[in-house]
Amino acid sequence: MVAHVLVFPFPAQGHLNSMLKLAELLSLSGLHITFLTTDYHYHRLCLHSPTHARLSRRPGFWFRSISDGLTDQRLRSADRILELYESLTYNSSSLFRDLLISNQNQDGWPRITSLVVDGIMPFAMDVANDLGIPTIAFRTSSPCSIWTYFSLPSLVQAGEFPFPAEEADLDKRVYAVTGMESFLRRRDLPGFFRQARDISHPFLDFVYAVTLSTTRAKAFILNSLEAMDGTVLSHIRTVCPTTYAIGPLHSMLTSMSSHVLINSQSDERSTNSATLRREDRSCLTWLDNQPKGSVLYVSFGSFTVITNEDLLEFWHGLVNSGQRFLWVIRSDLVNGVEKVGSPLPSLSVPPGVVEGTSERGCLVAWAPQEDVLAHPSVGCFLTHSGWNSTLESVVAGVPMICWPFFVDQQITSRYVSEVWKIGLDMKDMHGREIVERMVRDAMEGEKAQELKRSAAAMAEKAKESIREGGSSYLNFQSLVHYLKSTDD
Ligand code: UDX
Repeated sequence: MVAHVLVFPFPAQGHLNSMLKLAELLSLSGLHITFLTTDYHYHRLCLHSPTHARLSRRPGFWFRSISDGLTDQRLRSADRILELYESLTYNSSSLFRDLLISNQNQDGWPRITSLVVDGIMPFAMDVANDLGIPTIAFRTSSPCSIWTYFSLPSLVQAGEFPFPAEEADLDKRVYAVTGMESFLRRRDLPGFFRQARDISHPFLDFVYAVTLSTTRAKAFILNSLEAMDGTVLSHIRTVCPTTYAIGPLHSMLTSMSSHVLINSQSDERSTNSATLRREDRSCLTWLDNQPKGSVLYVSFGSFTVITNEDLLEFWHGLVNSGQRFLWVIRSDLVNGVEKVGSPLPSLSVPPGVVEGTSERGCLVAWAPQEDVLAHPSVGCFLTHSGWNSTLESVVAGVPMICWPFFVDQQITSRYVSEVWKIGLDMKDMHGREIVERMVRDAMEGEKAQELKRSAAAMAEKAKESIREGGSSYLNFQSLVHYLKSTDD
């Protein structure tokens, strides 16, 4: 019998992206796979994702979906994530159990022998544990953020958290997160730490509870590599001893699928996008016509919401920097101006600014990001420091300017600038002058050259890790070995 793994991500773009890649990698390694998502996201995958189209034709690969219990589509935005989480816990839990039970009696759908579930859905782990199915937890966030969540009791015990209301200094150093004593400041702790006046803050409570729940899994998977996160990984292994660092997953998948395609002489194209939105590929043609390394790519990920004032400050800053730019402006990026049925929001932008961009700017509602970052015309990435975006930039060797928005992004941006030294941290800074200065610093002059060299060196490490014998390659082989043993 072939071992059969059910992969179940939290229903959000950043989670689906990396977990669908993991699912495909496991499938290429000879395992049967069922990829489970919610009806809402499954529908969008079917509409927009070439990966879905390709994998749904692959023997031994099944897609299944269940309801997330929500009827209002707007509830799936970042600010309502707790509602989605609660709805999944209370509504989808029993549907998930029914699905696993029905699997045991269904012809043509082999018995599921193990699970890889998103570590922010402990309910799925509990159902699987109840049914005696071995489960591995996968977290899609940066290891440095996960270790900070694990360190919450140390922060509280040291009196470093919650921040005293009377003392607002966000530059104050924090010492209680082991391994980060030399560079961590209050402002680098995950976003919601600032709002929490006590440890019963609902988001804090949620993040800590889900993080602790991963210790109940048989093992833990992180999308990272030893060369970037070795120190943090060694700390995480003190609480989750079997932690597989198997990233960057998108790079591993590109490498493994090209290897399989060469060997099988198949004409199957390797498109790896799990996109939930329609990609506007015209920006690649626009990039073809720009000089090498001349374009700043700007994207704030799948969730971030900014104010119209912030949008204008970025706009002026970008135009005044004199650099070329490609900017993803999602229809729901700007708070309160989403236009249903329109790919781009209507913007209230002064006319002169629009003229400036039309000469050397390109706007899209959603880009094929991995292809954009790999394009030779792209010289820098202004990012919200989402973990997928960060890894995609690392692999492409593109330096970053970080403007983190929430959860793990605040600490990831600190690592980008202070630990890996492959970008600049614009955290908490606002205003067109700052944007202009940072863009210039990252795109031209000595600092830009320095960042480019460090980014190229890090890209090489990332590529080494996924080559045969590299750390992520070997960790992935161990994971496959374990999953295959679950059919015994
Ligand atoms: C958030 C968190 O920040 C992240 O760390 C967590 O693990 C998941 O949730 P998100 O805002 O979705 O992430 O950002 P990110 O993790 O960077 O993922 C966004 C994904 O969307 C990336 O894989 C990126 O390639 C893709 N994307 C983004 C596109 O394909 N096109 C775009 O135009 C913008």
